[in-house]
Amino acid sequence: MKLLGILIALLLTAGCQDKKADSAAAQKSENEITIGAVFAMTGPIASYGQESVNGIKMALEEVNQTPINGKTLKVLVEDNKGEPVESANAVRKLIDINKVDLILGSVASSNTLASAPIAQAAKVPLLTPASTNEKVTMTGDFIFRTCFTDNFQGVVMAKFAFTTLTKRKAAIIVDNSSDYSKGLQKVFKEEFNRLGGAVIQDNFTYTQKDTDFRSLLTKVKRADPDVIFLPGYYSEVGLILKQARSMGMEMPILGGDGWDSPKLQELAGPQGIKGNYISSHFSPDDVDPRVQKFVKDYMARYNEKPGAMAALGYDAVLVIADALKRAGSADSASLQKALANTVGFEGVTGAITIDANRNAQKSAVVLETTATGNIFNQKVNP
Ligand code: PHE
Repeated sequence: MKLLGILIALLLTAGCQDKKADSAAAQKSENEITIGAVFAMTGPIASYGQESVNGIKMALEEVNQTPINGKTLKVLVEDNKGEPVESANAVRKLIDINKVDLILGSVASSNTLASAPIAQAAKVPLLTPASTNEKVTMTGDFIFRTCFTDNFQGVVMAKFAFTTLTKRKAAIIVDNSSDYSKGLQKVFKEEFNRLGGAVIQDNFTYTQKDTDFRSLLTKVKRADPDVIFLPGYYSEVGLILKQARSMGMEMPILGGDGWDSPKLQELAGPQGIKGNYISSHFSPDDVDPRVQKFVKDYMARYNEKPGAMAALGYDAVLVIADALKRAGSADSASLQKALANTVGFEGVTGAITIDANRNAQKSAVVLETTATGNIFNQKVNP
C-alpha cells in the first residue's frame, strides 16, 4: 500500500519540468487558493494571533459562500510563537512546502520585518493586517498592509497628550526588543516637541518577558513626568501599569494598538487599567451599521466583543478576496497588482485604500481604558 502511494507520488511529479511543482504542489487542489497565515498562537503575544485567527475564520466562511472564479480560499495557520526567527521559518515553509498563493501576517512588526524579505524574494504577496512600523512595507513591492502606520499613530497620541490632556512633560518607556516600540518612541517624541512639550531625556527601557519593572519605574517617577507614553505589548504593559499605580504614580499612561488585548485588563488590574488612553484601529462601540453587524456576528460566534485584532484579521481576508476577484487569477503578479489597486474598500476598520507605498491611509480611534472595557473617546482622520 505504502509502496503504491510512493509510486503514484513519483508518477505525479515525474512529468513536471517546474522544480517547484513537487509532490506537495501536486496535492494542492485546483479549486483552492491557499493563504499561509503566520501568527502568534502561543507565547507572550498569543492573544494577538488567537484574535486575528478568529476574525480570519469568520471572514473566510463569508467569502467561501460564493467561490471566486470557481475557487474557495483555504487558510493554513502557522504558529510563530511571537518570535522573529520562527516567523521567517514559517514563511519559508509555507512558500516552499505548501506553495501558498499569499502570506497573511504577522502582527508584531519585528516578526513581519523578519519574514517579509523571504516573501519578497519569492515574489509571493505578503499582507500584514496589523504591523504598523514604517519599515515593513519598504521591504519591497510584494509587501502590503491594511492598517495605518506608526507615523500616524504616534502623532495622534502626541497630539492627544498635548492638546486634549494639556500635558507638557512626557516620559517615554520603550521596549528595546521591539521595532514597533522604538519607532513609536521616535514619532511621539518629535511631535510632542514640535507642539511645544518637553520629553525627558533618559533611557527608560525594558525588554520583552521582563516582569519586574520597579527599578525602572522608580527612575521614571523621580523624573516627575505629567504623562507617560508606553508603546509596548500587553504582557509587559499590564505589569507596568499595575506596578506604576502601586508605586503611587497616578499620571495618565498612554499607549498604542499594542495594548489592545482582552488580556490587558486582567494583567493591569482595576487600579492599573483606569485613566489611561490608547490609539487603535477599531472600536466595537462605533455606531456604523457595518461595524455593529460585525460585532453582533462575532459575539454570536465567539461569545466576546471583538478587539482590534479580530477586526483587522477579518478585513484583511475581505481585501484579499476583493483583490482576487479583480485579479481574475491567483498568479502572484496579477494578485500583487490587484492588491496595489485596492481603492476605498469598506471594511469594519474603515475604508481601505492602498497607497503608492503599499500602506493603508485610515483613521485611528482613541480609547480610554477602564476596568470594564475600553471606552471610545475620539476618531482621528489621516
Ligand atoms: N501594530 C503592532 C506592531 O506593529 C501590532 C499590533 C496591532 C498589536 C494591533 C495589537 C493590535 O507591532
